[in-house]
Amino acid sequence: MPKLRNLANRTKELDIFLKMAAGDHDCRIMLIEGVSGMGKTSLLSRFRHECPSEVKFVPFDCKGVNSIATFLAEVVVDLGHENFPRFLEKVKFFVQGGVDFSENDIAAEKTISIAINSNVDLATQDYRLEQLQQAFFDDLALLEHRTVISLDTYQDANDSLQAWIETKWLRTVDRRVKNVVTVIAGQSVPNPNNSVWGDNCEHFLLTAIIDIQAWCEFCSDLPEAAIKAAAISCEGHPKNTHQTLSLLIERWSA
Ligand SMILES: Nc1ncnc2c1ncn2[C@@H]1O[C@H](COP(=O)(O)OP(=O)(O)OP(=O)(O)O)[C@@H](O)[C@H]1O
Ligand SMILES: [Mg+2]
Repeated sequence: MPKLRNLANRTKELDIFLKMAAGDHDCRIMLIEGVSGMGKTSLLSRFRHECPSEVKFVPFDCKGVNSIATFLAEVVVDLGHENFPRFLEKVKFFVQGGVDFSENDIAAEKTISIAINSNVDLATQDYRLEQLQQAFFDDLALLEHRTVISLDTYQDANDSLQAWIETKWLRTVDRRVKNVVTVIAGQSVPNPNNSVWGDNCEHFLLTAIIDIQAWCEFCSDLPEAAIKAAAISCEGHPKNTHQTLSLLIERWSA
């Protein structure tokens, strides 16, 4: 039965990612930009799959997310709330009561939102968010294991979350939390010319894969001429080429 390998090409990106995850690269921020179907999400799942087992991997998707609390909650729950004592202390302090910060991230997010927003004016909300994120960063800086935090579908995060990622999050990863690697993927990504962290990031623009050889390696069981025809007719667009090759595999010998 003919088989497709899981990704054509993208070896350069994987190579750098693995170096970052192993602590062997000179920066810890990766931006992956590309139009729909270029394979950003697929590449992130490949990264996760290939990530060394001693490295924790937190996958986050910005789709439909409109608060920083959601991001903080997901990271805290994924990495285990026992690793965030300073942060949880602040949450408890602001909530002033029983804290349901147990196993699921919806409850955690709700609690953090209450800690930030409940019945207080905007200035107090800003103050609380600042305090919480400082505590979160303090805890993150003390993590013993190397950690990868990926953010997919960046273009769908709302303006305030994008601004936070571009200023606070990337700045902190670059300057303070030396055990954290972050990968941000999207149809748009934070501006890599940022004066604070821009010199310390790898920016990849995913484009069509026009290298026929890469498609032949991806799909070794069809005749080369068929693979070439599929790649040429789809102009190397990864999603379309992949779909066409899958169809051909199904029908070729039928
Ligand atoms: N390098 C590749 N080799 C083979 N197939 C690929 C490759 N990249 C993507 N694909 C195929 O294209 C499909 C779409 O890819 P994916 O969802 O990763 O794109 P995306 O860039 O995340 O798109 P969007 O911006 O819409 O989220 C995947 O299901 C996968 O089958
Ligand atoms: Mg995607």
